[in-house]
Amino acid sequence: MDRRTLLGTLAAGAVGAGLHAKGLGPGATDAKPTENPLADYAARAFDFGTGLPGLGKELLAEHLALYKGYVSRTNALLRDTLAAEREGKAGPAVQELRRRLGFEFSGMRLHELYFEALSASAATPSASHPLHQAIAATWGSFDAWWAAFRATCTMTGIGWGVLLKDPATGRLMNAWFQDHENAVAVGAQALLVVDVWEHAYVRDYGATGRAKYVDAVKSLIDWRVVEKRF
Ligand SMILES: [Fe+2]
Repeated sequence: MDRRTLLGTLAAGAVGAGLHAKGLGPGATDAKPTENPLADYAARAFDFGTGLPGLGKELLAEHLALYKGYVSRTNALLRDTLAAEREGKAGPAVQELRRRLGFEFSGMRLHELYFEALSASAATPSASHPLHQAIAATWGSFDAWWAAFRATCTMTGIGWGVLLKDPATGRLMNAWFQDHENAVAVGAQALLVVDVWEHAYVRDYGATGRAKYVDAVKSLIDWRVVEKRF
């Protein structure tokens, strides 16, 4: 069990828990396990240059800074939680550490899944790929799936639109993750993640512009990355 698997399994409700049927954690396609399972997580480097079509440089820079905050808070919470456990503490303060750990760890991982699949030179879906055959078998067509996924991403509230696969059955499902620590469908693998917290789009699209943002993201999804997660 590599470090990502171990910590993903430990974090209550953490996104990606137990999702390693092919030896790759979600979002870990270019990440390397460390030999020290207690080493801090390092913020992944995502270079969006002067911005992406539909997502400005400033918005992306702010968003990456927010992501780095999740990474640093995850590291701090892992240290604090483990220290409390080694001291035999288990009271309300430790319970709050666990809730926060689920929130921060999942926020870290969801951002990695999101950023990793964004590209200015995104590959279009490969109709012959098993993922797209599964999408067509489930929703009837890619366009029908996207309509349902887009509706998921534009639900009232702040959160994440996610396309999940249950490795136990191969079933695909669209999901809405609102609070990171309450991410649902334990064991399901996140194939595609779209951040629809307001910080992801308000700067460029305004508070009422989420649907336009989601449509812009559609053209940035690098399906080579998504298909590799399948
Ligand atoms: Fe975000």
